[in-house]
Amino acid sequence: MINKQAITKEDIHPILKNRWSPRAFANTMVEENKLIRMFEAAQWSPSASNEQPWCFFLGIKGDETYQKIFDTLVEFNQLWTKTVPVLILSCGRKMSLKNTDIPNKTFMYDVGQAVAHLTFQASSDGLFVHQMSGFDTSKAAEIFSLPSDFVAVTVIAVGYIGDPEILHPNLQKMENNIRQRRDLAETVFTGDYGHSNKLLNK
Ligand SMILES: Cc1cc2nc3c(=O)[nH]c(=O)nc-3n(C[C@H](O)[C@H](O)[C@H](O)COP(=O)(O)O)c2cc1C
Repeated sequence: MINKQAITKEDIHPILKNRWSPRAFANTMVEENKLIRMFEAAQWSPSASNEQPWCFFLGIKGDETYQKIFDTLVEFNQLWTKTVPVLILSCGRKMSLKNTDIPNKTFMYDVGQAVAHLTFQASSDGLFVHQMSGFDTSKAAEIFSLPSDFVAVTVIAVGYIGDPEILHPNLQKMENNIRQRRDLAETVFTGDYGHSNKLLNK
């Protein structure tokens, strides 16, 4: 298995350190209890006014929901998702539940955070998750008959990590790429925008 651990100055939790987004997935089904745990983790994510402005469509390889989600993916993503055992479509409610005339300004944030919870639960169960925005959101809304105040947000591939050899040669190279991040000093500020906080500027 490729080691793509995050390189950090200080130790972070192992599930955060070891998480990454592979494209080579093993052709192994995910256990049902692990799937349930993932959605329970998402469910217990915080959200503005506890509106929980998310819903998920669960596609298991071989079923109709899986095929429908797969059909919305752009060609590049279809290329590597062929072996993925589970595809999930995440959706978000744009309007406030309590006042349907008012937009919920944090709905995307809340959906993302729920997916983060799902991801970390999956990681702690030995699974890998690869989120995608490369799909046709209008097609997804149509084929899943989403209510008009919902939008499709991401497609999420879940499974056990596979052998990079199964990938197209160009994708194999990407699979082995070193993971990179911007310096923390360019992210955490004090005072005006762009002024690095000295704690992170060592
Ligand atoms: C919202 C979102 C959309 C993404 N869309 C795609 C995608 O369409 N196709 C793809 O191969 N990877 C996609 N990715 C994966 C990112 O490229 C990946 O998370 C990023 O390069 C950081 O790598 P890491 O997750 O391995 O740390 C997406 C990730 C997120 C969070």
